Amino acid sequence: MNTPIIVNESTDKKAKPSADQLGFGKYFTDHMFIMDYDSGLGWHDPRIVPYQPIVLDPAAKVFHYGQTVFEGMKAFVASDGRILLFRPEKNLRRLNFSNHRMSIPQLDEEVALEAIRQLVLLERDWIPAEPGTSLYVRPFVIATQPALGVAPSEQYRFIVILSPVGAYYAEGINPVSIYVEPEFVRAVAGGVGNAKTAGNYAAGLIAQQEASRQGYSQVLWLDGVHRTYIEEVGSMNVFFKVGDTVLTPELNGSILDGVTRDSVIRLLKHWGIAVEQRRISIAELVEAQRNGSLTEAFGTGTAAVISPIGELYWQGEKFSVNEGRTGDLSAKIYDALTGIQRGTEPDPFGWML
Ligand code: COI
Repeated sequence: MNTPIIVNESTDKKAKPSADQLGFGKYFTDHMFIMDYDSGLGWHDPRIVPYQPIVLDPAAKVFHYGQTVFEGMKAFVASDGRILLFRPEKNLRRLNFSNHRMSIPQLDEEVALEAIRQLVLLERDWIPAEPGTSLYVRPFVIATQPALGVAPSEQYRFIVILSPVGAYYAEGINPVSIYVEPEFVRAVAGGVGNAKTAGNYAAGLIAQQEASRQGYSQVLWLDGVHRTYIEEVGSMNVFFKVGDTVLTPELNGSILDGVTRDSVIRLLKHWGIAVEQRRISIAELVEAQRNGSLTEAFGTGTAAVISPIGELYWQGEKFSVNEGRTGDLSAKIYDALTGIQRGTEPDPFGWML
C-alpha cells in the first residue's frame, strides 16, 4: 500500500500538562492515526485526524472475543532538538507476531513506521524534555466487524495514540516490593503469553489487586505447569544478578519477548558481563538470597525501563534484595539505556531512529 497519509489537523489544541503532572498514560495529544482493514480491500485509508472517541457497533468482535493487540514504544527529544524513537522496528515486528497469534491480518511494517514518524513529528511539541519523561506511543489493532460468530473478524482498525509520560511506577527507579504469586498464572506455553494482547493484562489484574491489598507493588509470576519457574514480574521481564552472572528466564513461549529485555541483554554482553537465559526456579532464587549470592533483581519494560526489586514475599517469608536499595548494576543499566534514548550517550547498537 503506497497511499499517502491524509492529515486533517485539529483546530482545537489542548493545553499541555507540566512534567510533574504527567504520571503514566493520563494525557493524550491532539491527533491520532487510523487505518482500516476490510477483507478483500486489505488495509486502506491511512489518516491522521484530531484525537477523538471512536464509534463502534456494540457487536464489534473486539468486545466479545478479545481479538486485539497493542504495542508500546517511546519517542524522545534530544538536547540538540532531534526527535528520537527507540527501536521502533522491533516493536512493529512484534506487533505482527502478536497479529499472527490473534488471527489479525499482517500490517505493512514500513507503513506503520511511517505513520508513527509522521504522527510523532506532527506532535513534536508534546514530547516532554525533562529527565525521566518521554512521549509514549501506543499502536493497537481492534477487530471491528459486527458479528457474534466465533471466527476471525473481517474488519479491523489500526490506531496509534500518543501520551506524554513520566515515571510508570510512583517509585520511579526506587525498588518495589514483590509478592510471588502462588495461585494465579499469567500464561502457559502454547497460549498467548508471548503475544501483546489485552487478555494477558486483564488476567493479571486479580493477582495484582491481591498483591496491593497485602502491601506489595507487583507480583512475580511463576510458570503455569509446575508453579516453580519464574516467568515475569508484573507486566515486565525480570532479571537477577547472582554472583557475577545475570540470569533471566529464557523465552519459552509464555514469556513476552521484551524490547527492553533484549536491549539489557545486549548491553550486559557488550560490557563483558555473563548473561544466562534459562529456567530459574523460585527455590534457586530463595537459596541464592539465603547464601548471599543474589545481589540485585529488576524488572525491564518500555514503560518503566528498569524497576529494581527490593523485597520478595514467598510462602510466608520476606526476602530482601540488596537491603531494599537500588543496585549499582540496575542503576548503570538505567543510565545507559536512558542516555542512549535521549541522545546524551553514544548509540553503539544503532537503536535510535
Ligand atoms: C511495559 O513495560 O512497557 C509494559 O508492557 C507495560 C504497559 C502495558 C504499560
